[in-house]
Amino acid sequence: EAPAVDEKAEGCNQDRLMSSLPTKVYGKRRFLKYQATWWPEVFLPGVLAIQRRFQPRSSDVLLASYPKSGTTWMKALAFAIMSRKVYPLEEHPLLRLNPHDCVVHLPGAYAAGKESVVEALPSPRIMALHMPYSTLPDSVVVNSDCKIIYVCRDPKDVLVSLWHYYNKVRPDEAHLSQFHDLYESFCQGDTIFGPWWDNVLGYFRASLDMPTRVLFLRYEDMLEDTASAVMAIAHFVGCPFSGEEERAKVVEAIVKLCSFDELKNLNTNKSGSHGLLRKHASSSYFRKGVAGDWMDHMTEEMAHRIDTIVQGKFQGSGLNI
Ligand code: A3P
Repeated sequence: EAPAVDEKAEGCNQDRLMSSLPTKVYGKRRFLKYQATWWPEVFLPGVLAIQRRFQPRSSDVLLASYPKSGTTWMKALAFAIMSRKVYPLEEHPLLRLNPHDCVVHLPGAYAAGKESVVEALPSPRIMALHMPYSTLPDSVVVNSDCKIIYVCRDPKDVLVSLWHYYNKVRPDEAHLSQFHDLYESFCQGDTIFGPWWDNVLGYFRASLDMPTRVLFLRYEDMLEDTASAVMAIAHFVGCPFSGEEERAKVVEAIVKLCSFDELKNLNTNKSGSHGLLRKHASSSYFRKGVAGDWMDHMTEEMAHRIDTIVQGKFQGSGLNI
């Protein structure tokens, strides 16, 4: 079927915009700089479509993060918490589906032409994205009271995790096996969806301005006390645990269902692949799941450099790493 006239015009404008943007190439991938952020080329049409057309519902929950900060875990937790009345935990979809198949990646869905699938999702919808706060459309930030949960992780562990991930999903791109190159890009604020500090600060500030709309959590705190994070998420999204549920140890059951060891060892996450635009091995989302793995990859000097850069960027914000 021929596209409608305004769809065609939109496509032309988008092509013109994309061809005018600064570009950089990593192996076989192209990245485009738009609104002070480097985007993987494949996702940018999805981001632009979201900026133009995404209409949130007030019951929506958006899971935001910088990649490799615990998105998979947050997807599993939010889904298990919010769907606990629908799915008994012992027969939960998370036992047979990768968390990324339970919670849609919004720009990926839009870029893959699955906008209507997102629209057809029943409320309350849970959707994930890595878009910086400053790039979210007014329909989300100003004109909606939908909720956003952001998970932040020590940037040194993010970087190490990103490097392992790249090597796992793109083994053919040999230059990425140089950790030092990625490290330098990170320090220059030049990695995808970044700079990392802007991605984090945008949501942190929003969480201070609008604490009922934006919940800011840390991966390391979640590791230390997952049950408290589960209760905080449930409270934030408006479905706190009842006394009866607490006595029945539902919180503990959710913590266990979504734990790294439990998810990593499920058949569905050991084999198989997932992804709307490209297929990635499901196992690539479960590596070590700990805090401080950077110590095995960076010298004290390299770590100090990142910490100093980040402290400088965070100065006066009230946020520390
Ligand atoms: P490591 O590579 O350091 O192990 P994302 O989901 O944002 O892509 O982040 C992936 C990181 O989260 C990986 O970190 C992965 O192992 C870790 N992770 C995945 N599931 C987890 C879970 N249930 N609990 C804790 N960490 C988890």
